[in-house]
Amino acid sequence: MDQELNTLIEQAREALAQADDTAALANAKARFLGKDGAITQRMKTLGKLSPEERSQAGKRLNETKQAVEALVSAREQALGQALLDARLAQESIDITLPGRGLGSGGLHPLTLTIERIEAIFRSIGFEVADGPEIEEDFYNFTALNTPENHPARSMHDTFYVEGQDQHGHGLLLRTHTSPVQIRYARLHKPPIKVIAPGKTYRVDSDATHSPMFQQFEGLWVDEDISFTDLKSVYTEFLQRFFETTELDVRFRPSYFPFTEPSAEIDMRFHDGPLAGRWLEVSGSGQVHPNVMRNYGLDPERYMGFAFGSGVERLAMLRYGVGDLRLFYENDLRFLAQFNR
Ligand code: DAH
Repeated sequence: MDQELNTLIEQAREALAQADDTAALANAKARFLGKDGAITQRMKTLGKLSPEERSQAGKRLNETKQAVEALVSAREQALGQALLDARLAQESIDITLPGRGLGSGGLHPLTLTIERIEAIFRSIGFEVADGPEIEEDFYNFTALNTPENHPARSMHDTFYVEGQDQHGHGLLLRTHTSPVQIRYARLHKPPIKVIAPGKTYRVDSDATHSPMFQQFEGLWVDEDISFTDLKSVYTEFLQRFFETTELDVRFRPSYFPFTEPSAEIDMRFHDGPLAGRWLEVSGSGQVHPNVMRNYGLDPERYMGFAFGSGVERLAMLRYGVGDLRLFYENDLRFLAQFNR
């Protein structure tokens, strides 16, 4: 009997050693300890023995059972450890590889440009205002001395918006920031010094035009100001924006319905790749008496100067960008260059 049980333990040891996954282990365990397993079978035969023999044999059988159970749990542990080791090896992290890093975000170059414009104008006493991008026909055109059927309306290829506002006015995507002049001047008393940057829209798209683009409007209304003041403010702005005093500014006669006289503002760098070329950077002019009246102000008493400049244009000149569409393509290789 003893010999037989020792053999059984050895068989179990062998069978368990060969079980190299959990299913095989479960089978091996069942072979000895299961309902029909070798040890269970022997337990059942104990009943046929005499009481004396039974207690002897039962004791031996129990010891055998415990021995096999110990072998099973040792094997279970070994297998579990092996599985874990294999998984760890597979999922291992190679700490010698270079890290992926966390990219840091940055502001869009046009946002940076607008922030720069705002900071400069604030420092020379201008407020910053804004207005709606879905604008009433009235503010975008009529109040700016551009009534319906005025030929100047065809200067702007307008996106019209279906429907009307609560006063029955036609709606459109503002074609310029100039309507903010009216909105702001109606709510503030002179002296008024304000710029209004923001998005504007026109049916237009090529290397220097985008259907959505950005402008900043400037308005200065007071009792005793002149074109000279406008010229000095705008020149100072350009010098600080481009970080050089080595530039010339000229006002070239032009036409806008809301100003009289009107002028284009051109600038010329002394140095650099664009040196010597006149570059148009802004429209401007003295506020037309009709527009002054639409502000709710007396044109006999107040003088007004206004300008409207393209943000992309200034950003392109400052950064040397040749194609305006690059600002709107969301290509990180382009955009990341402005945040260093
Ligand atoms: N609103 C004009 C445009 O988009 C630009 C402009 C010209 C604005 C003259 C002004 C101005 O305030 O005085 O073409």
